[in-house]
Amino acid sequence: MKNIHKADLPLLRQLDNEVHVWFSIPDAVTDSGQLAYYKSILSSEEQQRYQRFHFDKDRHLFLVSHALVRKMLSSYVDVDPADWQFSAGRHGRPEIAGPAGIPALRFNLTHTAGLTGCLVTLDADCGIDAELISRRGDLLAIAGKMFADSELVMLKKLDGRALLEQFFIFWTLREAYCKAVGVGLGFSKKDYAFETESDDGVKIRFDAPASDAEDHWQFTILKPGADHVVAVAVRAEVQSGKDVVHRFIVP
Ligand SMILES: CC(C)(COP(=O)(O)OP(=O)(O)OC[C@H]1O[C@@H](n2cnc3c(N)ncnc32)[C@H](O)[C@@H]1OP(=O)(O)O)[C@@H](O)C(=O)NCCC(=O)NCCS
Repeated sequence: MKNIHKADLPLLRQLDNEVHVWFSIPDAVTDSGQLAYYKSILSSEEQQRYQRFHFDKDRHLFLVSHALVRKMLSSYVDVDPADWQFSAGRHGRPEIAGPAGIPALRFNLTHTAGLTGCLVTLDADCGIDAELISRRGDLLAIAGKMFADSELVMLKKLDGRALLEQFFIFWTLREAYCKAVGVGLGFSKKDYAFETESDDGVKIRFDAPASDAEDHWQFTILKPGADHVVAVAVRAEVQSGKDVVHRFIVP
């Protein structure tokens, strides 16, 4: 592995001040040559997962998503997309495990109907969640079980589209945070609450005794289209907020 100098890698240098979100629309990727290339860069484990999907649309979403991760990571450093190695951290959170000697890139992947997104940071815990805004049962009943009491109170003041959107804002924020800290479904959902109406952005509040530092987290809500809500969580030192830059790309 050759030595990699940040000065030679402009996109990597941007991560000193930014975090990047790369979005792709899976249905827009139809070129057979491109899809064959995506398959060729998957690891054997990813190939096996790819083969196991029952529905074509799920298989396609998996393929575009994992190609997106590999291609975008390779846009930061001189590593072939096929050469990335990943390992599962606590609760299955994927982390970069190789090649050796590369800068401390971190990433998180999300995929949902119609959208896939890959978040990339330099050396910062990070999580992303995208959801299709669609009605799924009794939102207030779900929120009563899954969300903090203050979030439920706010949702009860809303109806129609406003309720639907705010529900998914809370949902994606909570998922993005859980994904950033790498915890699974066992994590208590009532120990923290989001405030989304403050003038200085989204805030997380922890119940005492605090298990985490409120001002060490930066949350961003993105609406990359009319049908989706996306939340990004990045662990950041106090007052060192980074710009969240998002772009659409065909990987
Ligand atoms: C595993 C989990 C993180 C996946 O989230 P999801 O919304 O179903 O799916 P997403 O598309 O956003 O993310 C999936 C990707 O996240 C990554 N991932 C898997 N486990 C992860 C973990 N523990 N932490 C962070 N990322 C994880 C993988 O790259 C995965 O993609 P892959 O399955 O194609 O390899 C989620 O089911 C979970 O356990 N959440 C815990 C938080 C919670 O309780 N949420 C309830 C909302 S209030």
